[in-house]
Amino acid sequence: MNRLESHPISKIEGVYIAPGDKSISHRLAMLGSLAEGTSEFSHFLYSDDCKRTIEAFKAMGVNFNESQTSEDRMLQVKGVGLRGLHAPKKDLDLGNSGTTMRLLLGILSGQGFETCLTGDSSLSHRPMQRVTKPLRQMGAKISGADDANYAPLRVQGGKLKGINWKNEISSAQVKSAILLAGLYAEGETSIEEINPSRDHTERLLEIFKAPFKKNNLKLTIQKTEKLSPVHFRVPGDISSATFFIAAALMVPNSDLIVREVGLNPTRTGFLEALKLMGADLKIELKKSTSEPAGDIHVKSSRLKGIKLNKLWIPKLIDELPILMILCALAEGTSVIEGAEELRVKETDRIRSMTTGLNQIGGKIEERPDGCVIQGVPEFSGGNVSSFGDHRTAMSFLIAGLKSKSGITVEDTDCIETSYPQFHADLKRLCKD
Ligand code: S3P
Repeated sequence: MNRLESHPISKIEGVYIAPGDKSISHRLAMLGSLAEGTSEFSHFLYSDDCKRTIEAFKAMGVNFNESQTSEDRMLQVKGVGLRGLHAPKKDLDLGNSGTTMRLLLGILSGQGFETCLTGDSSLSHRPMQRVTKPLRQMGAKISGADDANYAPLRVQGGKLKGINWKNEISSAQVKSAILLAGLYAEGETSIEEINPSRDHTERLLEIFKAPFKKNNLKLTIQKTEKLSPVHFRVPGDISSATFFIAAALMVPNSDLIVREVGLNPTRTGFLEALKLMGADLKIELKKSTSEPAGDIHVKSSRLKGIKLNKLWIPKLIDELPILMILCALAEGTSVIEGAEELRVKETDRIRSMTTGLNQIGGKIEERPDGCVIQGVPEFSGGNVSSFGDHRTAMSFLIAGLKSKSGITVEDTDCIETSYPQFHADLKRLCKD
């Protein structure tokens, strides 16, 4: 198990390009596999999680070609069509990747063969019934421990019928699994959103020419025979960029330009919250095609505390760990409510963040659905565990930049799941 350390620095400075968006990369690899013909993606994210998606489709007969141009890494996918996948020779091991498992469950439900999905110990403890329940209602045959709630999950694909599902927990993974199964289901499949979650699946279904429609909070998809291949440039991952935005805000004299980062409004809650906290951020929308993207100019700022209720959560769910670090350094009290979903991420992130923050001199109180944080001027420093969670690990490495004695994070291999070059980017942008 690896460990990494971070130390106080004098400033963060430079131009930063975030790695490709993880949610979009997963979906492109999946929809590209199911399209008829060759799709090509630039700035695709080659992290452990996305590689699990690629490996799963390779095992079902899809060909992928990775190549490097002078500017970027490319991924070419030779799609086999919606009905062209074949049964894998062995179980599909999806490692730590919840997005792969949940979205794949939707696709596999409509295939003419049986598959077994497994994962690492964290993934095997994450709830899957939120996906297997609606899929079973559509006619899928899925079995696994605790009434198909935990991997390993065995899926016998077959005939599906459309359903109407209310997305009560505001999960993009649940919504996406149902929409992907809807490509194979007789009749119409619809989803009603209450508090909308990230909409990448919807945007991509449109460009892959699926019969998808959106009417306010109602999403509908019809069975189809064909998806068309696409050429697509993946925007930078706002969830990865937030670590460097946070670093630039909290270290005095910093000046950071973030280029070509995804600014999809279902993902920008973190930026909205920062503005309310008093952050000096200039956001310039540059590309407003299928996935909005642009640049952000960040300068160090003295932040004040914020109160976030459940309406905020879906649009900043993955940014809450790093936001807790910023709240812990902000003036006054911050309150995060309605964030119980954090307890079922790669680890229980309410527990991992409150434990670590209290170990490094922060003042944070755990609540069942969030936390209450009192700001301190800087962290004292110390040793924390990542609890095997990439976002907890990266959040504490950023916290170390504003500490007296530095922070050591144990168990940092998990960073590979979403951001393999995190440490290299950190070294490049931090000035001693
Ligand atoms: C994701 C959706 C979110 C998010 C996860 C990625 C996706 O999960 O936390 O990191 O790509 O659809 P939920 O759908 O469980 O909220």
